[in-house]
This record gives sequence, C-alpha cells and structure tokens, in this order.
Amino acid sequence: MSITFYEKERLFKLDTPNSSYVIGIVDKEGFVGHAYYGKKINGIAGIKDQLRVHEAPFTPEVNNRDRLSFYDCFPMEYSFHGVGDFRESSIRVKAPNGAVGVKLTYVSHEITRGKEKLQGLPATFGNEEEVDSLKIYCQDSVLGMMVCLKYSVFADVDAITRSVEIVNQSVETLYLEKAFSGCLDMDNREYEAITLHGTWARERHMERKPVGHGKFSVSSNRGETGHQEQPFMALVTKGTDDTKGEAYGFHFIYSGNFLVQAEVNQFNSVRMVVGIHPEDFCFRLKSGESFQTPEMVLVYSAEGLGQMTRSFHDLYRKHLIRSPYLHKKRPILINNWEATYFDFNTEKIIDIAKEAAKLGVEMLVLDDGWFGNRFDDNRSLGDWQVNTEKMKGGMSYLVNEVNKLGLKFGLWFEPEMISPESELYKKHPDWAIGIPGRENGLARNQFVLDVSRKEVRDEILRMVFEVLHSANIEYVKWDMNRPLSDLYSASLNADCQGELYHRYVLGMYEMQERLLAEFPNLLLENCSGGGARFDPGMLYYSPQIWCSDDTDAIERLMIQEGTAMLYPLCAMGAHVSVCPNHTVGRSTPFSTRGNVALTGTFGYELDITKLSDEEKTMVTRQVQIYHKFNDLIREGDYYRVASYYENRIYDCYLVSSKDKKQALLFYTQVMNEPNVHSKILKLRGLDPDKDYALYAVDSEKEETVINTGKVYSGDVLMNAGISMERLWGDFKSKLLYFEEH
Ligand code: GLA
Repeated sequence: MSITFYEKERLFKLDTPNSSYVIGIVDKEGFVGHAYYGKKINGIAGIKDQLRVHEAPFTPEVNNRDRLSFYDCFPMEYSFHGVGDFRESSIRVKAPNGAVGVKLTYVSHEITRGKEKLQGLPATFGNEEEVDSLKIYCQDSVLGMMVCLKYSVFADVDAITRSVEIVNQSVETLYLEKAFSGCLDMDNREYEAITLHGTWARERHMERKPVGHGKFSVSSNRGETGHQEQPFMALVTKGTDDTKGEAYGFHFIYSGNFLVQAEVNQFNSVRMVVGIHPEDFCFRLKSGESFQTPEMVLVYSAEGLGQMTRSFHDLYRKHLIRSPYLHKKRPILINNWEATYFDFNTEKIIDIAKEAAKLGVEMLVLDDGWFGNRFDDNRSLGDWQVNTEKMKGGMSYLVNEVNKLGLKFGLWFEPEMISPESELYKKHPDWAIGIPGRENGLARNQFVLDVSRKEVRDEILRMVFEVLHSANIEYVKWDMNRPLSDLYSASLNADCQGELYHRYVLGMYEMQERLLAEFPNLLLENCSGGGARFDPGMLYYSPQIWCSDDTDAIERLMIQEGTAMLYPLCAMGAHVSVCPNHTVGRSTPFSTRGNVALTGTFGYELDITKLSDEEKTMVTRQVQIYHKFNDLIREGDYYRVASYYENRIYDCYLVSSKDKKQALLFYTQVMNEPNVHSKILKLRGLDPDKDYALYAVDSEKEETVINTGKVYSGDVLMNAGISMERLWGDFKSKLLYFEEH
C-alpha cells in the first residue's frame, strides 16, 4: 500500500517510489492541511509541525478572535472561499441566498487499491498492484455540500493524481462557480516557473522565469487547450537543470479552458492551483447532483528536469494512453495536405500512393477536401459525404486501390465544425454555437457545432460512421480548427449557460469514445490547427497527436523539445515535408528533416511523385532507419543533452533503452561556427559499467547503419563526453547509435 493513514497523528502519507506527500487533519474543526510534498520520507515524527498550527495566529480553537488570520496562512489542502483565506480559492459556490462562502472540514476517508474511472472524463488508470487511491470526504455544513478530495498514487512512477467531486446534499439548488482539481500550498524556495507557450506553427516553446510575489498563471479561455499555453507549470529550485535540482511538475488532463497558477503571498508561501478556468464557468447542481472535476497530475523529481520528464513519459505510456497501438510501430504514413491542399482527385491520390508504396511508406492519409463541396476552406464542414466529382468511384474505390498497392488508408475529419455554407447549416442553423441577435464570429469561415447536444453528436457520428463503414479506413485524423467564441447553447436554460464550455468538452470526449467503441482497431490521431489540442486529455483517446502545422525541421527542434518535456516521443506526430518549407521558407537537408521526424511518429507530408531520385532513395533509407530504431524511440527513456532553445546553435538528445543496452543520439548543428573545436557532448542515460560500440546512422549513405569500429565506455561517454565534429554548413544533423559491446 502506498497510502497510509496514521490514526493517532491524523495524517495521510502518500508514497511513490521516490516522493512523499503528507496531508494532516487538525483540531476539532477538522481542517485539512498540506504538510509536505517532496523527496521520499520514511518517518512522520514531527511532520505535523509543517502545518504551523502551534505558532501564531494558531487555530481558531485556540485563538478564535483571529480566525481570519488562521485561514489566510494555513497550508490548505483545498482552499476555502470568501471566509477569510484571501489567497486563491479552489471552489466557489453560490447558495440560494446569493452568498458565496465555502468552508470545508474533514468528515471521513476511504483508502482502496486500484483506481475508479472518472465518468465521462479522460484520466489515468492502473490495476490494484499499480495504484492506490484515497478519498477524503469534507463537508460544508452550511451549504449542505460534500466535497470529496480524490488522490491516486502510482507504485511504479513518481506521480500522484488529484481530482475533486462535489455533491449537493442539500434540498436547494446550488451553483458551482469554480471547482479546481487541486491546490498545493508549499514554502516558497524562490522557485522559478517553467511553462510552455506558443502560437499557431510555434507551439510549446519553453520559458523560464522567477516566480515573484503575486500571481503568475497560464490559462486558456478558448474552449480548447490552444496553441498559446500548455496546461502545465513546473516549479523548480534555482539552478535546477536536467540532472540536478528539485522540480515539481503540474499538468492537467483536460482539453478545455484551464488555469494553472502559482501565487506567492505575504508570508512567502506558494499556492499552486490547477483546474477548469472559472471565467464563464457556472454549473447548476440540483439537490442530489454532483460534479466531477478533471484530473491533475503532480510529479516530483529530486534529480532535475530530466527525471521529471521521464516520469511524465512513463505515467502517460503506462497509465494514460489506452490505444492498442501504444506499443506498436505506427504505420509510416504519407499525408497529402502539403502535397495538394484542396487540389486533388482520385487519380492524383493514387499516383502519390503508388510512388509511396514503392519507397516503403505504409499508409496513405487523405486530408481535408474529400467531402461535400469542399474545394477550399470556405464551405462544407458538416457535410460528411464523399465528393464524387473529386473522388470518381467514391471512397471505397479509392481505398481499395490504395489497399491493393499494399498501403493502409486513413482519412481526415473535422467533426466539431459547421460551415455557414453547408447543407447541415441550412437544416440546423441553431446547431452552431452563437448568441441570438449577435453576429456570430467566424474563424476560417466556420462556426463551432454545439456538441454539448446529444442530437448534434448523434447526427455527426452517424455521418462519420457511414463513411468509415463504407471502406477499409484504418486511421482517422480528428481535426479542430478554431476556438470557441460567442458562447450560447440553444439547449441550455439561462441559468445553465455557464455549463457550455465544459459540456462541450465532455461531448467531444463522448464522441471520441463512441468512435473508438465502434472501431476498436482504429488508429486515431488528434489535431487542432496543428498542436492546439496537444494535451493529456486527448492522449486518453488517441496515442498520437499532430504536433504542429510547422513541419520545418529547425522550428520543430524547439516545438518537439518543449513537447517532449511532458509527452513521450511516441505521441508526437512528426512528418518530413518539402523545402523551401511552406511555413517559414527555410531549406534544410532532406536527411535532417528525416532525423527530426524520426523522433516522433514519422511520416511524410509532401508530393512524393515530385521528389528527385536522390530524395526518393533517401526515403527508402529513412524507412529502414525507422524500422530499425522505432522500438527504441517509442519505448525508451528520453534525455536532453543540449538544448537549442537555450544555446541557439545546436540541439542534442538521446533515447536509451530501459535496460541501457542501446541508445540513439540525435544531434543537429543549426548554425555552423567558424574556427571552433569539436563539441564535447556529455551523454546521459547510459550504463557507466557498460562498453558501447558506436555506429553511424546516415540516410545519405547506401549502408544506413555503419559500425565505426570504435568502442566507448559508458562512464567515459557520460563524464568525459564524446566529441562531435563540426559539420559543414547549417542545419546539418547526425545520428549515432550505441550498442552494448
Ligand atoms: C489543420 C491541420 C492540418 C490540415 C488542415 C486541413 O490546419 O493542422 O494538418 O489537416 O487543417 O484543413
């Protein structure tokens, strides 16, 4: 059992392999406080002092005249609202008389093996050997409300998850105006915050800054996660790097509006809160109804950011991604988007498939433009019927032809959208989210469908299923190309409009669940204008997510480095495209594009019929390299060796197998520098006691994997380093493979 309740001390201790988390219940009123989160501790004697109840202002039991002072400094496990804790509250509830105070006290608890599902929400999972769970029931007796704080502790990963369920046990209707998934009060140790921010085509760039007094947050109010911020923050002690220092990582398993916030207060303690963004959120809870928040993840590492990263990777691979493809090589795909955009027909797609099949590609994905009247991006979303003008012979003819060439077939959909110019809109204008009497804002000339409504979900899925049943379609790319705005649902009462953002997300999750139930062998890839929905929630449904519409190898180094801070490489959709690149106009060597894409799911996004003979040869070699190394890349441990984000000159990372018998080193020299020595790279993730044979892996050479004849000790590689010669030109890359000798 990794959860212990110490009855006498009224303490809960949650233990992962290398971290501990301690919760304490204090005095007669039963306040639930946070005592400790950090490196694993074995004993508990003295830990309760961390709750500071023996120092002024003391608990109300001792000093009721200063009750507010107590509330405002007590390290809360789930902060109150409106009764005197002036830091960020975790929950706000409006009572029938309009009052909004919430005060929670301990009632009882339950410790169990395993983990319950969160109804309708993506969440981590594990069996009775892998995970234990704790529920702490708290109440607000004035409101007649029960709040259950839920924790799950993993035996094989340094991760703890939290969520909250709120039950209205009163006879009245309550309005839940805020319900975070968790709160964490810690002593401030001059933390720095690491976040991932971006925009379209430039997602998840790392940023690091000191956390000062006041509040620092990342958030989304776009109805989806967005390109702009990741629902993540790490608090790290000064000087923390990849191998040393303390790192606390907070991540949110959700795909809608979020807030992740660090607050440093007057007494120099830090309060972290993670949850659904309270803006425009209001959930009506009638008597007996309950609300379950999404889940948040906490990861603690005493060994720097690298270990935090590997804990997230392991947690998501073992306990979040459900797909049958998780541990399989994904078919190398070719997607026609950058090859043709909307300008294609069956013949053109078959030409691409023919050439791709010859070179070893394994699946053709037909992107946007195959349905309705979709000759450009101005129309037809919602009309999921095959356009037989472009697609002579229909879908089944094309899929059969592609299958005959030995390729699987995949198809693009954007199920949550509706174009004003569509048959669907003519029939159901009220299915679009929009405020009556106000001009509904367009983005990419489209509206968002109100998928909070069952009839909308049913009709869209009916059309999608019909197409998928009509042919042997083995992969779906589920896209979502605009944020939500003009929030109003024709199906919700006035006092329930604040439920729409969340109900939308639940509706979208339900659609994906039904899609997978109907087609259990489907390989699903999520996407949102590139990487606007790269979040842990989506990973529960699809084992891979399109990282970014930017396929430029150099920009991808930054995007993929930021993404890989949290997500396993097997989840990152990455393709080789043509140069000059369609987003930045940069030209990079074909081999570099291949090496960078290899770090992800790997595929091509170009007109393969137009490649030069030399490039085609390189495709066949990249295919070989993918097959040789994908097991390692997919299942291995990821180590940052040098960060292009930090040094702006070169990038280097390594993936080693769990048994440390193999490792693959990716090096990209973004900028050449004149008259410099070779770079010495100190490797990580190897076994100091093993010797390794060094192989050069190169798609520019006929023999792609060459034994250099050199042998290095793991100890030498990690402490003295390996010398990386200067390459001639910019954007050059190298792959080195180490195998136990
Ligand atoms: C989004 C996706 C692209 C492509 C287009 C099609 O931008 O990210 O990969 O599918 O839509 O319209």
